Amino acid sequence: MHEHDVLVIGGGGAGLRAAIAADEEGADVAIVTKLHPVRSHTGAAEGGINAALREGDDWELHAYDTMKGSDYLGDAPAIETLAQDSPEETVQLEHWGMPFSREDDGRVSQRPFGGLSFARTTYAGAETGHHMLHTMYEQVVKRGIQVYDEWYVSDLAVTDHDDPSDRECHGVVAYDIKTGEIEGFKARNGVVLATGGLGQVYDHTTNAVANTGDGAAMAYRAGVPLEDMEFVQFHPTTLPSTGVLISEGVRGEGGILYNAEGERFMFEYGYANNDGELASRDVVSRAELTEVNAGRGVEDEYVYLDMRHLGEERITDRLENILHLARDFEGVDGLEEPMPVKPGQHYEMGGIETDENGHTRIDGLYAAGECACVSVHGSNRLGGNALPELIVFGARAGRHAAGADMGEPEITTGRTADTEPEDDLETPVEPGAVEAGDEDAVADGGEPTDESRSSSDPRSDGGAAVVDPDETVRGAVERERARIERLLDKDTGVQHAELRADLQESMTENVNVFRNEDGLEQALEDIQAVRERYQDVYVDDPSRTFNTDLIHTIETRNLVDLAEAITLGALARDEFRGAHWRQEHQERKDDEWLKHTMLSWNDGSPELWYKPVILDGENKTYEPKERSY
Ligand code: FUM
Repeated sequence: MHEHDVLVIGGGGAGLRAAIAADEEGADVAIVTKLHPVRSHTGAAEGGINAALREGDDWELHAYDTMKGSDYLGDAPAIETLAQDSPEETVQLEHWGMPFSREDDGRVSQRPFGGLSFARTTYAGAETGHHMLHTMYEQVVKRGIQVYDEWYVSDLAVTDHDDPSDRECHGVVAYDIKTGEIEGFKARNGVVLATGGLGQVYDHTTNAVANTGDGAAMAYRAGVPLEDMEFVQFHPTTLPSTGVLISEGVRGEGGILYNAEGERFMFEYGYANNDGELASRDVVSRAELTEVNAGRGVEDEYVYLDMRHLGEERITDRLENILHLARDFEGVDGLEEPMPVKPGQHYEMGGIETDENGHTRIDGLYAAGECACVSVHGSNRLGGNALPELIVFGARAGRHAAGADMGEPEITTGRTADTEPEDDLETPVEPGAVEAGDEDAVADGGEPTDESRSSSDPRSDGGAAVVDPDETVRGAVERERARIERLLDKDTGVQHAELRADLQESMTENVNVFRNEDGLEQALEDIQAVRERYQDVYVDDPSRTFNTDLIHTIETRNLVDLAEAITLGALARDEFRGAHWRQEHQERKDDEWLKHTMLSWNDGSPELWYKPVILDGENKTYEPKERSY
């Protein structure tokens, strides 16, 4: 068994920042990641980092823009922490050598981004995430932080107390992709999940194939609630044939959106009379699809993003990467032609509920970055707010997990009387969980439920919970070995690719920018059908070395659980807020819905409940206003 003070799961922006922070606190920290850190999806982040650095700007303006962008569903203390800490974290990156784009006078450049009242997005060309990742990886190497790369963490080692709030996390189980070995990793202090997004729930996404929501799904099944999962961001400018991102930086520099009739529709049809193309993403994505649905789209599918008027010099200076992406993935020369774009899944605003130190309701378990929901994005994230979230909350989680005294967070995850699950707010449809205790489901290569987890655990005799850390890790390893053997031993059945494709198709069709009740119910039925068929899943490739068939099979189960979480939240929330548009409910209902959607796994029968949004900040209360751009 490997053993460290702090284990960081995931080597992207949040994971690297957490590891560096834990190391700075003197902890023995290791990163366990299914990809080499510099292949993490943070490397695909193009646009930038919002930070109030200049005269005329301040953190309060950043916080206000973020709260407005969230459509008043973000928590004020977390948003204010993001805005307050982002400048220092951004300067820290600069001091570590990040090659930011600069003005002639040497200052770090900042460009306008959607929904911002000040041009506060710092950037490094149109490959900001790539440089951020490399800059932090250098720090990891310099500090000698151990990286277990190409180790896939497939489960958490959590004590099996009945009440999830009594559970403790003592480590993880990981599968060595290079050798097929399954080993335990014990964390003396804490485990920080930084596993990124879940874009593979959809078939048109900017996310990498690796973005399968592993951390969120594992934490959810271990007993941590997921928060605000229905809020999925669809980025307005993705290439139609692949989903590859064309950065908001193009519009920040002055790029213009046209429909098939050559109209600058953001103004022509009044979608955003002030900010036009630089309205927030939810507004622009809906506008594009409204154009397509009105017959003014190109080939009935997309619109044009034109940057030709910016001129070759400016484009190659600030947006060179966009030229490569448009040419390589769509065969379009952005200097000569407008680029075809359409909305695509980009970001999950919800995730693992955490407090401001990244701590979850399970002792010893933390989360940061896209897999987490400390609630800075609410129902719509502003472009340029994801990268600061990684560094601000990654650092806080790393420090806290290492044992630093961070004081009481303003946002806590304490379950108070106000936030107990409410009987009348239970799931609106029977969720499609595997029957608890279904032994066949376990025996035939399917996945164990929480019930089967304890009944198949040789140490579990129905008596006291296993609480010894070493025993907890060893038990988790045994269960994972048995599960993976079952998957590899089965020689016929259904393959993950078929299931994943069906899931993605239904989510893309029914749980997209525009949503309605029938579609959401259809999606739940489809998810349930996929879940049932997953019980017969098998892995065709029996090898132990780089068995991606096996890894994708395990990931697919995570996608199923998260797709269900998104859809249950979307069906329950009968209002229109931020990125969540409902055909039958065309208003924001503040009287009823200024609350976060919480979803507990509940032994495979998801339970919906709610907790209030915090609108009180340090110096003011953010009163919900009508949101226009
Ligand atoms: O458009 C972009 O460059 C993406 C930025 C972001 O998601 O924050």
